[in-house]
Amino acid sequence: MQEHFIPSPIHDRSAAVSIRFNLNGRDVDIPIDPTERLLDTLRYRLKLPGSKEGCGEGECGACTVIIDDLPANACLIPTFQVRGCKVRTIESIPASSLQPMLEAGATQCGACTPGVVVTANWIKEHSDVLASNTMRALMAGNLCRCTGYDGIIDGLEKWIGKPPGGRS
Ligand code: FES
Ligand code: FES
Repeated sequence: MQEHFIPSPIHDRSAAVSIRFNLNGRDVDIPIDPTERLLDTLRYRLKLPGSKEGCGEGECGACTVIIDDLPANACLIPTFQVRGCKVRTIESIPASSLQPMLEAGATQCGACTPGVVVTANWIKEHSDVLASNTMRALMAGNLCRCTGYDGIIDGLEKWIGKPPGGRS
C-alpha cells in the first residue's frame, strides 16, 4: 500500500528560539521557529492534532484554544507570544463531554467540533456570561458548514444548561 506523506509546515532548521509555557497543566520547554504559529507547534511539534485548521485566517474557530483563560484562534497566534502563558487544548477536555453533543446530532464531518467543544467548555466554566449573552452569540466565532447549528446549540444546552430565561 502506498504511504501518504503529510508535510509539516514547521522548519527545524530555523528552530532558534526556546520557549516555555504551560500546556494542559504541564510545563513544556521547546525550541521553535520564531515565525511558527501556535496551531503548528501544537499539531506538529507537540503531536496534539486535536486543534484543527479550517480557514487558517481567524474566521472559522476550528483551531480554538484557551490562552490564559480566554478563547483564541491558534492559527493567528505566533507561538513565541504564549511564552509563560497557560494554554489549554481540546486534549484537556474529557471525551465524555461530547456525549450530549453526539446525542443531539451536533457533529457531522467533525471539522468544527474541537473548536466548538473548547469554546463551549469555556462557557461552562464562565457560566455568568450566559446572563448577558445568548448561546448563539457566544458561539459566533465557531463556524460549522454541516449542521445548521441547531444540533450544536441543543447539544451545548444539554451539556452546559439553558441560559437564564431560556434564550438560546
Ligand atoms: S483555522 Fe483558525 S480560525 Fe479558522
Ligand atoms: S460538523 Fe462539519 S463543519 Fe461542523
